[in-house]
Amino acid sequence: MEISKVGVLGGGTMGSGIAEVCARSGVETLVVEVDAQACAAAAERIGKSLDRALARGRIDEGAHAVAVAGLSYSTEIADFADRDLVIEAIVEDLAEKTRNFAVLGEVLPPHAILASNTSSLSIGELAAATDRPGSVVGMHFFNPATVQPLVEIVEAIESSPGACAAAADFCVNTLGKQVIRCADRAGFVVNRLLVPYLLSAISLADCGWATVKDIDAGMRGGCAHPMGPLELCDLVGLDVVEAVAEVMYEEYREPLYAPPPLLRRMVAAGRLGRKSGEGFYSYS
Ligand SMILES: NC(=O)c1ccc[n+]([C@@H]2O[C@H](COP(=O)([O-])OP(=O)(O)OC[C@H]3O[C@@H](n4cnc5c(N)ncnc54)[C@H](O)[C@@H]3O)[C@@H](O)[C@H]2O)c1
Repeated sequence: MEISKVGVLGGGTMGSGIAEVCARSGVETLVVEVDAQACAAAAERIGKSLDRALARGRIDEGAHAVAVAGLSYSTEIADFADRDLVIEAIVEDLAEKTRNFAVLGEVLPPHAILASNTSSLSIGELAAATDRPGSVVGMHFFNPATVQPLVEIVEAIESSPGACAAAADFCVNTLGKQVIRCADRAGFVVNRLLVPYLLSAISLADCGWATVKDIDAGMRGGCAHPMGPLELCDLVGLDVVEAVAEVMYEEYREPLYAPPPLLRRMVAAGRLGRKSGEGFYSYS
């Protein structure tokens, strides 16, 4: 199946990155956001990122021009009517996602694939909200999507082998990504391993075991991680870490997935990490 027109629902941290990756690969890419202000913010974020990639020599002028020409923005989900694939990247909230998947099922052409970038929610539940569960798959990109090579292709019980194969083929052969396949269980492969580690680091900071800087320095210097766990929480967004942990705790009922009190307090205070300017570190 040829995928030449892609839609990205939600142009925040992940949606912007995914849209940029698609546009850089020469795919016509339409980003749909909630309102004109959010569309403008997504366009600005993607534009600046493309300019940085050009300035750093990661793309040449031709690729920059192709990407800019291939991108468009809208506030109307109905504008996805001609898309071959839509990748949903809105807030990590099951009710909000199922509501939007029901609408995507009505809007998209019959051959289209409906993908979610969810970090933890059930692809099967999203599929059940549509009239075509066989066409729904998980396509989990990593942050920043323009840099991280991996995409997890998540197969729900109802996902058709054809949709999974087409999604994986698009990621590998069009976007140049590396793919792993996994079952529809909260956290998939990477977050199942990563989230308990991040939560442990937050608990260490919470009980004053070590300073935030020393916890991060420990994992950078001792394990050769490019980034410490609390720096990574700030990059991912503390609200996203909390939401993913909640879903995993709900699914497995094991204490290692329970969001620690400090995480809850920071999210309640609006300290979400890089995107809000304050998290474990200050970005002002
Ligand atoms: N942040 C990460 O590191 C990361 C990594 C992998 C996957 N994810 C997943 O990606 C998804 C998005 O996360 P994010 O970090 O980009 O969140 P974000 O808060 O940065 O962006 C979400 C965007 O969705 C938009 N939105 C909300 N409802 C919408 C709707 N109905 N229609 C169109 N747009 C809508 C918001 O305006 C916002 O711009 C989540 O499911 C998250 O779990 C996040």
